[in-house]
Amino acid sequence: MSTLRLGDTAPDFTAQTTEGEINFHEWLGNSWGILFSHPSDYTPVCTTELGTVAKYTEEFTKRNVKVAALSVDGVESHHGWIKDINETQNTTVNFPIIADEDKKVSDLYDMIHPNADSTLTVRSVFIIDPNKKVKLIIVYPASTGRNFDELIRVIDSLQLTAYHKVATPANWKHGEDVVITPAVSNEEIPDLFPKGHKEVKPYLRITPQPNI
Ligand code: BEZ
Repeated sequence: MSTLRLGDTAPDFTAQTTEGEINFHEWLGNSWGILFSHPSDYTPVCTTELGTVAKYTEEFTKRNVKVAALSVDGVESHHGWIKDINETQNTTVNFPIIADEDKKVSDLYDMIHPNADSTLTVRSVFIIDPNKKVKLIIVYPASTGRNFDELIRVIDSLQLTAYHKVATPANWKHGEDVVITPAVSNEEIPDLFPKGHKEVKPYLRITPQPNI
């Protein structure tokens, strides 16, 4: 296992999942991807997390994002647990849960942090772009359920900044003003940002979100 970093190609793998065997890169196709691990099936926080992801299906689909979960439990365990998730979270799990019993994928993505837990995966999140490059890595402890609104927010930022010469400021949300990247000269601004801009400092230039 080598350290996976932003900009690296997301490691490819073939794995058993609740939706059959998948080859990760093939399964992603031209979509964006979120790969996220959880410590264990039949645990309370994980149950709420996977239920929440299922409820966000429409948000992921409209952003062209495919989601896959992972733990080191087996497919049969995942299937049984999905029934509980659907029942208790009032939803339908409709994304694959990888059964990483041999820890092959966990090792590739460094999802087991032995000083936190020697056998179970932590709550890792990887956002992967359509070129299979890793664009975000976040790791949460087992005791803290993730904020999936934050992941949607990051997807919005990544998809915006991939196509426009802007970056998104602290706490930015879709629809709010953005900053013009330092590589853009003042002369280029009128053409690139016809909605106008405000120069707070020479290095801090604000413009309305260009793609809405
Ligand atoms: C949970 O999902 O609730 C959980 C899993 C492992 C450790 C602590 C909490």
